[in-house]
Amino acid sequence: MDHKTSIANALAALTGMEADTLRDWIENPPNTDMGDYAFPCFRLAKTMRKAPPAIAAELQESLSLPAGISRAQAVGGYLNFFADKSAYAADVLNKVLSMGESYGGSDMGAGKNVCVEFSSINIAKPCHIGHLPSTAIGSSLYRIYKALGYNAIAINHLGDWGTQFGKMIVAYKMWGEKPVPESTVRELVQLYVRFHQEAEQHPELDDEARAWFKKIEDGDKEAVALWQQFKDLSLYEVGKIYDRLGVHFDSYAGESFYEDKMAPVVEELREKGLLTVDKGATMVDLSDYDMPPCIVLRSDGATLYATRDLAAAIYRKDHYDFVKSLYVVAYQQNLHFRQIFKVLELMGNEWVHDCEHVNFGMVSMEEGTLSTRSGNVVYLEDVLNAAVEKTGEIIAEKSPDLEDRDAVAAAVGVGAIVWGMLYNSRIKDTTFSWSKVLNFDGETGPYAQYTHARCCSVLRKAGDYDRANIDASSLTDAASTALIKAIAALPDAVKLAAEKNEPYVVARAAMEICTAYNKFYFDNKIMVEDAAVRNARLALTDAARIAIRQGLYLVGLEAPERM
Ligand code: ARG
Repeated sequence: MDHKTSIANALAALTGMEADTLRDWIENPPNTDMGDYAFPCFRLAKTMRKAPPAIAAELQESLSLPAGISRAQAVGGYLNFFADKSAYAADVLNKVLSMGESYGGSDMGAGKNVCVEFSSINIAKPCHIGHLPSTAIGSSLYRIYKALGYNAIAINHLGDWGTQFGKMIVAYKMWGEKPVPESTVRELVQLYVRFHQEAEQHPELDDEARAWFKKIEDGDKEAVALWQQFKDLSLYEVGKIYDRLGVHFDSYAGESFYEDKMAPVVEELREKGLLTVDKGATMVDLSDYDMPPCIVLRSDGATLYATRDLAAAIYRKDHYDFVKSLYVVAYQQNLHFRQIFKVLELMGNEWVHDCEHVNFGMVSMEEGTLSTRSGNVVYLEDVLNAAVEKTGEIIAEKSPDLEDRDAVAAAVGVGAIVWGMLYNSRIKDTTFSWSKVLNFDGETGPYAQYTHARCCSVLRKAGDYDRANIDASSLTDAASTALIKAIAALPDAVKLAAEKNEPYVVARAAMEICTAYNKFYFDNKIMVEDAAVRNARLALTDAARIAIRQGLYLVGLEAPERM
């Protein structure tokens, strides 16, 4: 049992209150001279009808000390608890070393499904830096839910349907120079850009494009084959980026997948009397909720983005029976999701309250960060390449003898970018800057990876240690205690990250461990004469290694053993 729980139980026995509630109130004082945990007694002032200091004194008097706590002391309105440091250290080390790579996780989600939709790129369009937040946040949440035992389902809701594919076909047939599979997405994008330029002078091109999209919808062989080739090419290219990012999807059911699943939804809306027709378009009026109407059929009968999202939400509920369904999509689509969720609610779908738009802010590039040779688009691939190249240069300088330099540069370069994206609350707009993300000393991905590699190096040089006989009594100095606490805080951070759908909670918890480890490393010589002390410090290093590695993994980073 962890300390907070045993303190809460002891307080519950005295006060008759719920242990869970009491546990939530327990604080971690910033300064451990004041104790390792503090209970704010003002919380009980109402029920106990006393001033907080009197309550603190009374509790101190009558409380029997919970397991692992060596002392309780009333200070003002607080009751402070001091952990038995060495018993605590032994507890934490045992737990981490026995759980190994699964440390930080739990089985709280066993048997429950969580849909995590992320990345959701548009086919035949550039995959640019703006796609990174959704991809990185979503993939991290996917890993976090899995670590908590949930059956998470990673869904890429591809933008693979709509008139733009008619435009692509027209452009390709007019100006395409080689078979689609031999092209690159960048070439396709150029064709698409050219289509838009020329269509300004020649509006009839738009009619042609509509006609071609109609052909795709009607299953015309040539049209469908071209569309499929555009899609295959895009997925092949973006697949390489996903591999570099360590991103995996369980489903690529994109917008086209819902083509035959929308009619029943529109029918249901009609039956429930939710549809109105305005200027030929069919929509759900949302004026009672201060929102523009949600249009489900255009005047020509064509379905829209929103229609597909309604069908997708219902399909996911039917197919996965989720306890949560997340949409990791930029805040620009806030209104869209509010509309979709409201329509689902008006249809009587109670489960819509389990759907959440996990939104995030904008990424902009610091002046001069990357040249945008291809118009205004900053291709994600270019960003990753540049990061790996710059990291390679730093490594060549710092560790010229490193084997596997390219693999390490790839892990660290890509990791730096992902970490930079996930280190702050999602909704904050971020400005991307090389000096910030690649700084090996700041609170960056490279610093975390470097600390992990340092732990590995300490353990490698030591040879081995005795896991069965760890004497934690030497781990009571301030630096060791702080490190143990930081390691022990990881599981709660993982849980909280899932509650808030905020990967930064894990990134920050991992960073705490790194900072604490480096302090421990400089304060304490590890390879000392005293075998028991040496063994305990190596065990602590191993626990730090495991916890940092898990933190890195959950955020989406690799953990090279040498750097
Ligand atoms: N493909 C869309 C875009 O790039 C994002 C899709 C978001 N997901 C959804 N279910 N609507 O803007």
